[in-house]
Amino acid sequence: MTKRGMDTFHLIVLPIVLLCCVVGICGETEVHGTCTKDDGVDCGSTSSSLEVSPIITKLDGVEVGHVQDVILGGKTHQMTTLSMKPQVLEIKHFLTDEECDHVVRLAKKDGMFDSVTNTPTKSGSVKVMDMNQDTALSLREFILTIENSFDIYLDEDDMLKMYSELGMDRNGDTEISREELHGQDPKSVIDWLTDYVDKRPYKKSRMSRQAWLYPSKIHDKILDEIQERVVSLVGLPRILIDKNDEFQVVQYGPKGHYHAHWDSGSWAEKYPCCHHVKSGARCKSCRFMTVLLYLNEVEGGGATAFPIANNETFNENSFRMSGKINLHRHCEDANLVVPAEKGKAIIWYNHHLDPTTGWVGEMDSFTLHGGCGVTSGHKWIANKWILVSDKRDKDLDPNFKPNRA
Ligand code: OGA
Ligand code: FE2
Repeated sequence: MTKRGMDTFHLIVLPIVLLCCVVGICGETEVHGTCTKDDGVDCGSTSSSLEVSPIITKLDGVEVGHVQDVILGGKTHQMTTLSMKPQVLEIKHFLTDEECDHVVRLAKKDGMFDSVTNTPTKSGSVKVMDMNQDTALSLREFILTIENSFDIYLDEDDMLKMYSELGMDRNGDTEISREELHGQDPKSVIDWLTDYVDKRPYKKSRMSRQAWLYPSKIHDKILDEIQERVVSLVGLPRILIDKNDEFQVVQYGPKGHYHAHWDSGSWAEKYPCCHHVKSGARCKSCRFMTVLLYLNEVEGGGATAFPIANNETFNENSFRMSGKINLHRHCEDANLVVPAEKGKAIIWYNHHLDPTTGWVGEMDSFTLHGGCGVTSGHKWIANKWILVSDKRDKDLDPNFKPNRA
């Protein structure tokens, strides 16, 4: 946890919280098999049901295992469909070894800094996740409470250690009853968590370092060529890429990881897209598409996992209860696991197309994914996100400059 994160942590006003007993549980949202032709949600590139010509399109993976040639900069690459729900496409040797090494060098030269994720609890309140409303917290329910409120991902062993060191579970049944909870000074819990995660930063949702590379600023021939290759591959209006041209280079060290998450957010979210606002303002990510480039061979671990790919349905609370969000523990349980291979690209769409507008639609929940724990060596990747907002005209207007600092 960074120093800054720590401050936030302490600021959480604790009249709080853990003691304020059984509280609401997040609304259960069921998402039913979204990517089907008959429910009006588009799954592929051809969108005959659209009422207007789409300006954004998707590549068509056809079916799992399908291989198609794509010609990029005069070179033929093979693109293989790894999954259709969500559609994940893979291109091996998208980058040469030299290009990979070069991007890593550029990032190191620019300076890597700790990646920070949004801390869930900014409001100062903790939602006690008594999922079955039995007025006691099971181990998993307490783990979930801590995950949601503090962005700390503990195992059952960690929790038992906390119970024992704080004398919390007085009757030793591994459940924390309302009385046991009330008998505990919340500050002692917060202090314990703070100290624990300080010594074990890999208990956060993400442990990595990163740098941002802007082709338009650094004028690097090789980075420009990679950018061109991405533009040719995705087949989207190049203005979308030109306006937000950055690459995020990420380095994971031993025990580095990024637990399961979405790259974008719900379209229904009322905040503006981040690429239209000054940094610091509350906003949503609006990443229509992810192009992930693997920049080295990882000695151990470090695959990219899609835990719920091809599931029939998805229920966020049940998923969180299952603990499978933790990709140190549950990488191999994921439905789709993509090994990191130097030079490989994988791409997916974080949003559906809206059949009535031909523009971006709701987020595709099945894109939930993350970086599995690195067990030995380092892992380097570059993320290229194609940003698209709900202000279609602004996105396509060359004179509209994103208002970012
Ligand atoms: C990310 C991400 C996956 C990986 O950086 O957003 O999902 O395999 N990375 O590192
Ligand atoms: Fe991601």
